[in-house]
Amino acid sequence: MTEVPRRRVLQVPRALSAPTPGKRVTGHPLCTARAGRVLSVRPGKRAPVHAGPTPARSATWRYARWQAHLVADVGWRQVHAGSFGAAAAEYERGRPTYPSQALDWLLPTGVRRVLDLGAGTGKLTRQLHDRKLDVVAVESLPQMRAELARVLPGVQVLAGTAEDVSLADGSVEAVLVAQAWHWVDTDRGVPEVARVLTQGGQLGLAWNERDERENWVAELGRITRPRPEQKADYDNPHVGEPFGPLERTDITWTHQLSRDALLDMIASRSYIITAAPDERAKVLRSVRTLLETHPALTGWDHLALPYVTRCFRTRLTHPRVPAR
Ligand SMILES: C[S@@+](CC[C@H](N)C(=O)[O-])C[C@H]1O[C@@H](n2cnc3c(N)ncnc32)[C@H](O)[C@@H]1O
Repeated sequence: MTEVPRRRVLQVPRALSAPTPGKRVTGHPLCTARAGRVLSVRPGKRAPVHAGPTPARSATWRYARWQAHLVADVGWRQVHAGSFGAAAAEYERGRPTYPSQALDWLLPTGVRRVLDLGAGTGKLTRQLHDRKLDVVAVESLPQMRAELARVLPGVQVLAGTAEDVSLADGSVEAVLVAQAWHWVDTDRGVPEVARVLTQGGQLGLAWNERDERENWVAELGRITRPRPEQKADYDNPHVGEPFGPLERTDITWTHQLSRDALLDMIASRSYIITAAPDERAKVLRSVRTLLETHPALTGWDHLALPYVTRCFRTRLTHPRVPAR
């Protein structure tokens, strides 16, 4: 069957840096992402777009096509929220779990059935599982679910999001969302989370934030810092009705990890995954240099990376509205 090319035009936002025309870019994990349609792009310019079969193109062309297509069609938040699958292995190797004090605080007393929502590769799921809780993991990205299933073969893992949880009404006593609530469209996510909770059920949110009071960690932050518009606000999450007021606690702790794991941790941040390949390589090179040269780090096999885990919890206050 012959496909007839369609024509349309995408606007590339100025905020995105498109690759230099003609400059070859290799090895970016997103270059093999779903086929887009943009033929050429420059920031702020309109690009002609075709559908249908495309000839082999350079990695630069594929990267530009991917960025422009996704951001124009899908939006910045979805592009970043959906980027983790491309670095699922790095995520699993490099990201920390959560301090057990945080779980003690986030879980209601006597809880049995818990949902880990936006579970990723199961960093929190494994800790809930270790506590012998009946845990179900919901995660939207297939690559993250595959890592989770590999690491935790005995745990139920479902495809879904906070806006469409894929569980029955009133089926869990607690919902935990670690490092993911900032991606949620709360207008749709809050009622959906309330729907799957039992009466008086609890929602717990957590974020691990690097503690930059230590000099080398501040330096790491300076090198890898996302642009201001890419920085998630972990301090003021929005939940609101039908949940009650949010309570908060901060827990300081230290994560021991290898140098390679630290590089993986940086490589699995959404603003690094979605960066242009040369920018991404430059950041990782600077992190390597920091690890090799900072006086606080030389001579140690393992690194002690300080974190503050920001925790929030709230309970359902209104009776759940039964499904029609
Ligand atoms: C930074 S990872 C956190 C993964 C895991 N919770 C952890 O603590 O390591 C963010 C996760 O949120 C997921 N996510 C993105 N948008 C989401 C949404 N609207 N609802 C639920 N999860 C979402 C992503 O697929 C990704 O796996």
